[in-house]
Amino acid sequence: MSFQKSPGTQDILPGSVERWQFVEQTARDICRRFNFREIRTPMFESTDLFRRGVGETTDIVEKEMYTFTDRGNRSITLRPEGTAGVVRSYVENKLYGEPDIAKLYYIGPMFRYERQQAGRYRQFHQFGVEALGSADPALDAEVIALGYSFYTEVGLQGVRVEINSVGTPSVRANFREKLLAFLEPKRHLLCKDCQSRIERNPLRVLDCKVDQEHFEGAPSILDSLDEECRNHFDKVKTYLSDMAIPFEVNPKLVRGLDYYTHTAFEFKAEGIGAIDTIGGGGRYNGLVAEIGGPDQPGVGLGLGLERTIMLLEHQERELPDPHRVDVYLVALGEAAERRITQLAYELRKAGIRAERDYQGRKMKAQMKSADRYAARFTAILGDDELSRGEIALKDMASGEQKVVALDRLAQEIAGTK
Ligand code: HAM
Repeated sequence: MSFQKSPGTQDILPGSVERWQFVEQTARDICRRFNFREIRTPMFESTDLFRRGVGETTDIVEKEMYTFTDRGNRSITLRPEGTAGVVRSYVENKLYGEPDIAKLYYIGPMFRYERQQAGRYRQFHQFGVEALGSADPALDAEVIALGYSFYTEVGLQGVRVEINSVGTPSVRANFREKLLAFLEPKRHLLCKDCQSRIERNPLRVLDCKVDQEHFEGAPSILDSLDEECRNHFDKVKTYLSDMAIPFEVNPKLVRGLDYYTHTAFEFKAEGIGAIDTIGGGGRYNGLVAEIGGPDQPGVGLGLGLERTIMLLEHQERELPDPHRVDVYLVALGEAAERRITQLAYELRKAGIRAERDYQGRKMKAQMKSADRYAARFTAILGDDELSRGEIALKDMASGEQKVVALDRLAQEIAGTK
């Protein structure tokens, strides 16, 4: 009997894990500079949290959740996204009681039972941030700037920022009426998904990929905004312009989750089949209260790491720090073998990435192994050198070879980094 990974999951093997580490490291470093601090919440939560938090009529809750009953008869769901759990934790741990706002970030797996296609997985990873406790539009702009910096610093090109205002619930109720009046006569022309979505979530209909031709002349939510919403949106745009972040206003942009108010935004790029959205987020001023907390506003984003990495590969971006060993130790003879076991440990403690043979191979095979590890140096220890307290050090790029004292090996290698 043999086993294979479940559909929609991935093994991240050495060779590609270095890219993941680089992307995660970049995310952490950006959060440090923007002063967001890490939060780690559970990978599963009670199902009701996501029903309330993400929204009953969303695709996620209607058909994509990994939900099961545990042995204590609780309905549990593997988190399909990060915001609901972070907000639950913010409320439960009373982070709102602190004098400053909460600026939090997370990196981790999320789970959605989605139809498989390029860039769509059932276990995928998000880098997300949530800023809770302020309605200042400067924070919306800061979160967008943070996302933009992430894509820039990992080296992605051609990332577009689209923004919209989805208003407040009352603005949306108003707009919904106008939109329904526009959509009703066209109902029979629309795709099956949209036909069933019209009443439940007409704003999502405008976002449909296949029906765009029927939406010419559709009312725009931007014309329905009240003064407060318009002011907020204008400020976000001003701040983004001040920071020289290029963006486009897309009045049809609605997100797949119900909690957004005011600003909604997406990061888009071409190169992953039919998918062009690589990250998104927005403001969610009602969510904290919705899940039982005080009426605190929030804004955040979630960026898909699989999609980021697929695009980096598609654009053939080189890793700034490729995987290579500093030194490969070759031992000739038993006494030398014993000495390099100790030597490898000393080098590693001194910060040097050292590798050696563990399969009793001949010198030639060990040299080939050093090549496969892209070793910068090979250090060869025979009985003669050992008796003199020396080792032969070969620079693999230049082919130059010299003999150095064993106790100076670490300095020699470190000095050339
Ligand atoms: P979302 O738009 O549902 O937002 O997901 C954010 C990103 O996660 C997507 O743009 C995409 O890159 C990635 N993603 C989503 N589903 C999949 C999948 N099946 N396979 C691969 N990647 C996927 C949220 O989740 C919100 N929590 C973002 C947010 C945070 N809003 C405010 N704060």
